[in-house]
Amino acid sequence: MSIMRVVQVSHPNGPLELVEREIPEPQAGSVRIKVQACGICHSDSFTKEGTFPGIHYPRIPGHEIAGMIDAVGSGVAGWLPGQRVGVGWHGGHCGHCDSCRRGDFVTCQTAAEVPGITYDGGYADYMIAPAEALALIPEDLSAVEAGPLMCAGITTFNSLRNSGAQPGDVVAILGIGGLGHLGVQFAAKMGFKTVAIARGADKGPLVRELGAWHYIDSQKEDPAAELIKLGGARIILSTATSGKAVSAVLGGLGINGRMIIVGVAEPFEVSPITLIGGRRSIVGWPAGRSIDSQDTLRFSALTGVRSMNEVFPLERAAEAYERMMSGKARFRVVLRTGH
Ligand SMILES: NC(=O)c1ccc[n+]([C@@H]2O[C@H](COP(=O)([O-])OP(=O)(O)OC[C@H]3O[C@@H](n4cnc5c(N)ncnc54)[C@H](OP(=O)(O)O)[C@@H]3O)[C@@H](O)[C@H]2O)c1
Ligand SMILES: [Zn+2]
Repeated sequence: MSIMRVVQVSHPNGPLELVEREIPEPQAGSVRIKVQACGICHSDSFTKEGTFPGIHYPRIPGHEIAGMIDAVGSGVAGWLPGQRVGVGWHGGHCGHCDSCRRGDFVTCQTAAEVPGITYDGGYADYMIAPAEALALIPEDLSAVEAGPLMCAGITTFNSLRNSGAQPGDVVAILGIGGLGHLGVQFAAKMGFKTVAIARGADKGPLVRELGAWHYIDSQKEDPAAELIKLGGARIILSTATSGKAVSAVLGGLGINGRMIIVGVAEPFEVSPITLIGGRRSIVGWPAGRSIDSQDTLRFSALTGVRSMNEVFPLERAAEAYERMMSGKARFRVVLRTGH
């Protein structure tokens, strides 16, 4: 019997425990991945804290997976052992509901799968993933570089590239954590006048290095008023986990401006007058399909967008998770296995 190390949560709010399990075999339509790196996303708190519906425990978290195909199940076309692949939040779909028939797999209503939520994820030496969830990793990205791009990367890249903003438009990124620091880089590389909004002075120099044109310290200045001074934002991409932080910037949207919510914040207040008068809107955005992940990886390889990572070995996952949750990480925490 071959054994692997995994880090699992046994019950909601339980600890992240390092245990041994048998290495699983890939079923039909799936591959086994030798995990090399897995980013720790704030959304892993859904699994840790049990705040996402329908999670069965014990569960292995992790949906920012980068590794190598190690075994291929029956009926899988186009994927071979030895290929370097990533898996993100969108971890599988039914393929035949109305959404899937439109190619909108992300909104699959019948069998939307998520690694670390509906099946075991990447805090492990090996994992199983459906073939439709795989994205090819370009040669010039290491596994540690690719991992965070599979959720923090695709979510910000894909929402910005579909936002309707044009080069030169003011695009603000609210919250500079794992998602936000990649959002700043993507926005700058896409040619937007990129404004970073976060708490505290220390992030100012860092976001300028990442390509931000302007920094607003929301603890010192009114972020909405500052955005209006810049002409008003075409887009505000909110990665913040605080509803109050979202409310505080909404007034900074320009005419036809749009707030894109990717951060899972508590409910927040909106003034209908603000929305109606300037035809402003608020929309949500889920990460994207595996092909969008592949586009994210390619764009990052091409333009030099990289996650700034603090790397921990798999066995220190509990400490690494606390580091991410503390908000002190600069900026993503990534687990590395020995592979
Ligand atoms: N839509 C999607 O598909 C998708 C994908 C991935 C993640 N998410 C969600 O996106 C959010 C960010 O994830 P992450 O991994 O980037 O987390 P993270 O690294 O922990 O960053 C959290 C961000 O929230 C901000 N924040 C936290 N508490 C705040 C407060 N009291 N007031 C103002 N801002 C506060 C921080 O802002 P400062 O910079 O000011 O410290 C920080 O930038 C999470 O809610 C996660 O679940 C959504
Ligand atoms: Zn995530």
